[in-house]
Amino acid sequence: MTHSAAARQQRDQDAAAQSDADGRVRFFDYHPTIADVRTEVLRGLGESSKSLPPKLFYDQHGSRLFDAITQLPEYYPTRTEIEILREYGSEMADSLGRENVLIELGSGSSLKIQTLLAVLKPLVYVPVDISKEHLMASARALAERFPKLSIRAACADYSGPFKLPLDPAWPRLAAFFPGSSIGNFDPQDARHLLERVARLLGPGGKLLIGVDLRKDPAILNAAYNDSEGVTAAFNLNLLTRINRELGADFDLDAFEHRAYFDEDRSRIEMHLVSLSDQVVRVAGQAFTFRRGESIHTESSYKFSIAGFQELAHDAGFESEQVWTDARGLFSVHCLGVLS
Ligand code: AVJ
Repeated sequence: MTHSAAARQQRDQDAAAQSDADGRVRFFDYHPTIADVRTEVLRGLGESSKSLPPKLFYDQHGSRLFDAITQLPEYYPTRTEIEILREYGSEMADSLGRENVLIELGSGSSLKIQTLLAVLKPLVYVPVDISKEHLMASARALAERFPKLSIRAACADYSGPFKLPLDPAWPRLAAFFPGSSIGNFDPQDARHLLERVARLLGPGGKLLIGVDLRKDPAILNAAYNDSEGVTAAFNLNLLTRINRELGADFDLDAFEHRAYFDEDRSRIEMHLVSLSDQVVRVAGQAFTFRRGESIHTESSYKFSIAGFQELAHDAGFESEQVWTDARGLFSVHCLGVLS
């Protein structure tokens, strides 16, 4: 076992559950360490085509900036998904089968889940998010609103194999994976992630997943290039975070936000583009940037309904139902694990 794998295992065993006053909210910390962040940043910047994983956007400030993005007039996904959840929530509950335990991957501010909690009435909710303080605050606020609900909040990175605070005695599980976060993964990684979710849920388990649809590139480009510059701030905050956590010296004025829809790959690409020839030091290592060279910070794949169903099928799910908004901007799928 490598040193970091051993450290990770130890951390998992230690993942001390912290309880709040009335014991209905428990926190389980499987959060990536600074060492994990350093490893990923040095690897990404060391490639000939520089990249950084989008999960690193979500430090405390980044999670707040993301919440601001969801309120922008140009950013249609969040409000459209909520509209679909409100309209078809009870149908969704019927398809999910009103399981007692509901897991949410990438729970963020736990806003969307409230529609589902109201109709599904599970006994236990397991929000999973990489942004620790944000997760804890959201879980506490949710506990106030749903006085009968038990919450087991897990701070974890679900982009690789992950552990959850589940009780083996629990009956069938249902999961919610909103926001089209599946679109942040390249096709093969997306399949692997869905395979892990299928294994976690077991035969007959259900997954409700939000998937952004392919559409007029003008709408897509506007959604990732808002006029207030919030998306640019969100993208650049990644460098601020690396400066703070890894002692780097990125000059925030020497990089610029760029986002565009790549039609061939059917994905938005976000980049941070170097405005000059420059050298940046990160965790004691020097990285050179040519003027115009970029760090690829995020992909956001846009799907056709059939294309997504095919991906889900390859990962061991059967598509049971799909809901969309009237304009066909966004979709929510109920998938069942194939036995
Ligand atoms: C994390 C998938 C919801 O790709 O649309 C928003 C993140 N990035 N604006 C997306 C994001 C830039 C977002 N999701």
